[in-house]
Amino acid sequence: MTRHLIDVADFTSAEVTAMLDLAEVPAEDLPRPLAGKGAALIFEKPSARTRHSMEMAVVQLGGHPVFTRGEEVGFDVREPVEDVARIMEGFHSLIAARVYDHSTVTRLADVSTVPVVNMLSDYSHPLQAFADALTMRQQLGVLAGKTVAYVGDYNNVARSLAEISARLGMHIRLACPVGFEADDAELERILLLGAASVVQGNRPIEMVVGADAVHTDTWVSMGEEEEEDKEAKRQKFEGFTVDDDMMDAAGDGAIFMHCLPAYRGFEVTASVIDGPRSVVFQQGHNRMHAARGALAFLMGADVPGEQQ
Ligand code: CP
Ligand code: NVA
Repeated sequence: MTRHLIDVADFTSAEVTAMLDLAEVPAEDLPRPLAGKGAALIFEKPSARTRHSMEMAVVQLGGHPVFTRGEEVGFDVREPVEDVARIMEGFHSLIAARVYDHSTVTRLADVSTVPVVNMLSDYSHPLQAFADALTMRQQLGVLAGKTVAYVGDYNNVARSLAEISARLGMHIRLACPVGFEADDAELERILLLGAASVVQGNRPIEMVVGADAVHTDTWVSMGEEEEEDKEAKRQKFEGFTVDDDMMDAAGDGAIFMHCLPAYRGFEVTASVIDGPRSVVFQQGHNRMHAARGALAFLMGADVPGEQQ
C-alpha cells in the first residue's frame, strides 16, 4: 500500500518514532531507496528551508529532485490536479507539493500510486513538525510527559506541532489570541491522538509556565499578506510577542523554537530569538534530517540495527 505524508496524525506513535529514529541515522548509513529515481517538488508558495532540505534529503537517498513552481504546473489552471499526479508518477517515485489549498495535496494523494508529501498547506505543515520533534528530542530527551507551549495563531504550523506532540505523549499548552484559537472539536481530536493533556488559553504568560519548549510562528502566513489584514492581525496579537519575561515565566531550562522565517519585534523579540535559549537554527537544520527520515520511511527503509 502506498503511504502518503499528508498529516502527522496519519501515522501512529510508533511510526512517528521510527521516522525520527531514521532522521538520526547519518545519510551515509541509510540505504538509497531513491537511487536512480526522481522526486517532483512542486511549490505554489515561496520557500527557503523546505525546498533546500527536501532537495538535499532526496539527493542523500540517492534520488534526483526536480523543482517546479506552482504556476508552471498550474494545478486546476493548466490541467486538473489529478492529471498532474497521474503524469508525475510516471517520471517520479515521489511527489511533494507546497500548496495554498489543503485539498490539492489530498487530491494528489487520492490518485497517486507513488507517495505524496505535503510540504505545507493552509491546514498543516507536517515536515516542520518532524523537525520540531527531532529538535525537542535532542534538547530535552524523552518527550513523553514534557510540556510544549505554542504562542500565537492556531495555524498550519501549530496544528502539526500539536499532532506530533500528542503522538509523542506530551502536555500541550496553546496560547492563542481570541478568534485565532483551536475549537473544542480540534482540542478533543488532539487529545485523542495521545497527548498527556491539552490546555488552551488567551493569556500567554500563564500558558507558558512550566513549559520545556516555547514555540511561535509568524502572525502573517503566506497568502495573508494584504496590508490591511496584516495590520488588523497585529493589533489583535498585542501581548503575544515571545519576550524575555515570557521565557522567564516558562522556566530556567525552557528552549525557544520558531519554524522561521521570523519577524523580530512581532511574534518574538530579537533578544529571545538571538539569545541563549533559542534553538531555531538547529531546528532549521533539522528540516533536512527530518525530511530524510520521513522520506526513507515512506520508501520502506527500516531503522538500521533495529529488530523488525
Ligand atoms: N519553515 C519553513 O517551512 O520555511 P520555508 O517557508 O522557508 O520553507
Ligand atoms: N504559517 C506560516 C509558516 C511558514 C513556514 C505560513 O504558512 O506562511
